[in-house]
Amino acid sequence: MPWKRTAFTGGTLAQALNIADLRAIARRRVPRFAFEYVEGGAEDEVTLRNNREAFARWRLLPGTLVDTTARHLRATLFGRPMDAPLVIAPTGLNGILDPDGDVALARAAARLNIPFTLSTFSTTRLEDVAARAGGRLWMQLYVMRERAGARELVRRAAAAGYEALVFTSDANVFGSREWDRRNYRAPGRPTLATLADIVCHPRWLAAVARAGGLPRLRNLEDHLPRASTSALGGSTLIPQLVDASIRWEDLEWMREAWPGKLLVKGILNVADAERAAALGCDGIVLSNHGGRQLDSCVAPIEMLPEIARAVGNRMSLIIDSGFRRGTDIVKAIALGAHAVMLGRATLYGLAAGGEPGVDRALRILISETDRVLGQLGCREIAELHPRLLREA
Ligand SMILES: Cc1cc2nc3c(=O)[nH]c(=O)nc-3n(C[C@H](O)[C@H](O)[C@H](O)COP(=O)(O)O)c2cc1C
Repeated sequence: MPWKRTAFTGGTLAQALNIADLRAIARRRVPRFAFEYVEGGAEDEVTLRNNREAFARWRLLPGTLVDTTARHLRATLFGRPMDAPLVIAPTGLNGILDPDGDVALARAAARLNIPFTLSTFSTTRLEDVAARAGGRLWMQLYVMRERAGARELVRRAAAAGYEALVFTSDANVFGSREWDRRNYRAPGRPTLATLADIVCHPRWLAAVARAGGLPRLRNLEDHLPRASTSALGGSTLIPQLVDASIRWEDLEWMREAWPGKLLVKGILNVADAERAAALGCDGIVLSNHGGRQLDSCVAPIEMLPEIARAVGNRMSLIIDSGFRRGTDIVKAIALGAHAVMLGRATLYGLAAGGEPGVDRALRILISETDRVLGQLGCREIAELHPRLLREA
């Protein structure tokens, strides 16, 4: 008889041994529309799957008999220290997973001295996140058809002391996440099945009631009609807001208007990386938006070696899409990334258990990364190098 491994049946954060376990808890706790919004990739989800599979093409090649007792993961980004080379990625509509989701993510990040990136489509005002969470805050920018809103957001983020502006360049045309869309009968209008499923999640409903109602896109309330800022259905409303005419020239006004660090997120080729460097960007995020935009797209990790060779000594290289294990993080750093952005990994933690859940997700990844470092015979991330990898 075939032998089956013991499945994860736990329900507490402490029982979760890895990010997949947190995902399993999250799936039970939030309504289906919220889970599918997080989970979904574009179209056939070839990009989404390849983001995970791409890591397996590199195998780790350990050195041995090195005293690794005194290991640490400390790193520096933009001249400031952090406990690990991690950044929390911008994700819109966090409030549908936990009403105080943005603050929960930001506080968990602050505790580990790592940056948290607030989405343009956040459900908490950027000023409130700064006042309530503190820490290293980055602001993600989508430029929408209504251009004045973007300039105002940049001004507000600067006034609130945000360290970096992360301009997302890969969502000029929004991806089609089909199983997310099926939960709505029209943009912003959930199906009856979605509403019935929400009613079956009384704990989630109670949290919404305690928070004073459904989350809204708080950063955009001053610029958009009320019907466009409901976070219930935001994922079907957002495609109407983005602007397909956005160009490299737009970075020039951002560079002028923004006093802090400027990053472009969504870079996947050497020519674009060179262009970002030439325009005075401080960093780029190699990303395919976690498989939510272009389907059948390369995985960022596949492009990392050549981009690192071209611009790695001129600006900070951050990478995301598909990171769920310490081995993934180690491979990216060894191939030349300075830090890794976490999207769904920390969102599963948030949905599984609010701020303690995010904390659990981060600590799981940190302890995995630390263990891999030791097993490779390294004491710090500065020792990670391409020679520790072999292409399978
Ligand atoms: C639920 C969700 C919402 C997201 N919202 C945004 C967003 O508002 N702005 C943005 O630049 N990227 C957004 N992203 C993409 C993430 O910043 C990041 O690139 C991606 O999640 C990384 O892949 P991973 O989820 O596999 O880690 C979102 C991703 C998810 C899963």
